[in-house]
Amino acid sequence: MDLKILLQRCFNSIGYHVIKQSKYVKLNSELDAFKTEARPERIWTRLSPALPEIPSHLLRNSRLVTNRYELMKLLPRNAVVAEVGVAFGDFSDFTLKVLEPFKFVAIDTFELHKFERVFDVSSAEKFEGLSHGGWFLKRFKEYVEKGVMEVQMGLSWDMLGKYPDNYFDIIYLDADHSYDSVRKDLNVIKYKIKAGGTIIFNDYTVFDPYTETPYGVPKAVNEFIVENNCEVIFFALQPTMFFDLAVKFNERKQ
Ligand SMILES: C[S@@+](CC[C@H](N)C(=O)[O-])C[C@H]1O[C@@H](n2cnc3c(N)ncnc32)[C@H](O)[C@@H]1O
Repeated sequence: MDLKILLQRCFNSIGYHVIKQSKYVKLNSELDAFKTEARPERIWTRLSPALPEIPSHLLRNSRLVTNRYELMKLLPRNAVVAEVGVAFGDFSDFTLKVLEPFKFVAIDTFELHKFERVFDVSSAEKFEGLSHGGWFLKRFKEYVEKGVMEVQMGLSWDMLGKYPDNYFDIIYLDADHSYDSVRKDLNVIKYKIKAGGTIIFNDYTVFDPYTETPYGVPKAVNEFIVENNCEVIFFALQPTMFFDLAVKFNERKQ
């Protein structure tokens, strides 16, 4: 048999095996369509999206760091920060303590209480019988009362759109990971981030094996980097392979 075909089959069967073996609950409706349509060769195509490479001149000042927590420690303190997609707020809590932001905007649809289980915990137990948003406000009451934290409940691109242009020093993007949604977020973020500000893209990976969901983050992010000539400043490793990539945003190109 032709070596190319053999290799292709081998890769396909690995992809198929990963999909079959996963034990986790599916949160994303795209998955059903993905699985019913999925023949091995289709999976391989879906996980290998055509994306532009980041040219080396945009990588020459980049640094590899151990994980996203180390990355955050290298960012400026007392800044205006947004975390887009906060879930339970564990990472928000870390950022608030480490960076002591002047302003921290927490954005989420805050609808996780509608799922029976979230990230393998019972949502009723986690949210103590409250709504996701109510529980989050209770958790960060002190910061909200001090005027440091603003909580915005709704779709990420709409909530970001409420802020003035050139407002944020740091935006941590971790909401919907489909290509279309990340593009939509970035179409707003490019106006809301200051020149010289930092955008961190969480989950820079093509597939989530826990929920069996393809991610469009690398494609949307690489396109954005190339279109706006952004310098990559950090790449954070993560044991789970859900990497973070951080860029410095210098100027709006379109
Ligand atoms: C992966 S979790 C965020 C985790 C959090 N950043 C952390 O590191 O702990 C993604 C969150 O984004 C929210 N989300 C997903 N799509 C969204 C959208 N389009 N607008 C606002 N929030 C969204 C979900 O409700 C969820 O809480």
